[in-house]
Amino acid sequence: MSEDKQQAQPQTPQGGQDAGKEPKQGGRRGRGGSARGRGRRPQGRRHAGKQPAVANKGEHILFVGFMGSGKTSVSRVVAKRAGLPLIDIDAYIEKTQGRSIKQIFADEGEEGFRRIETQAMAALAYEPKSIISCGGGACNSAINRGILKALGTVVYLKVPLEEAIARISDPSTRPLLNGERPVREIYEERMPLYRDAADITINTAGKGIGGNVSQVIGALRRNKLI
Ligand code: S3P
Repeated sequence: MSEDKQQAQPQTPQGGQDAGKEPKQGGRRGRGGSARGRGRRPQGRRHAGKQPAVANKGEHILFVGFMGSGKTSVSRVVAKRAGLPLIDIDAYIEKTQGRSIKQIFADEGEEGFRRIETQAMAALAYEPKSIISCGGGACNSAINRGILKALGTVVYLKVPLEEAIARISDPSTRPLLNGERPVREIYEERMPLYRDAADITINTAGKGIGGNVSQVIGALRRNKLI
């Protein structure tokens, strides 16, 4: 497991009676730190660490963005400040699979990893309201984007490619950085997908973790999400 992704795994998901969730009401989605046009979700339903009996109805706060956008570090601090559990999907996958992400790619290719990733994301519906750090490819498929929408509010950490690459301390843990496709091509392909999935967009360019956390917390409070 990459060292920055330890802790932060959910409990083993339990089946519920209400697995078929409705996607949240759509409307235009906010940019620049707001969540305009979204139907208000019920506020403040806390489960005090217990598993809810039924699927979570879209209360999670999920971080998406390219590798190196700061999802892991920002979500960790936001979870602490908001007093919410933290789930890192990559760490959860590594724990449940008993293999590193790199090993899963080596064993099953990207396609196999994406299957596992989608299952892990779907299982989060059974977790109490949490801060969730997603993998950089979480917005790739329409199925995943639907799952994200149903799970809760999506916060997109936008980052210029050069800055993202510079922030990754150990590129060997990211198979796609060592794959056949040029990273810029992957980045450009994903930009519209992140934008499409985002409820709140935070421009992280040139800012440290502290600055990004403040912006995220501000946006979440303004939208009464924490
Ligand atoms: C991936 C990003 C990684 C990890 C896997 C695939 C991607 O997560 O899920 O290597 O497709 O961008 P991070 O974004 O946390 O590095």
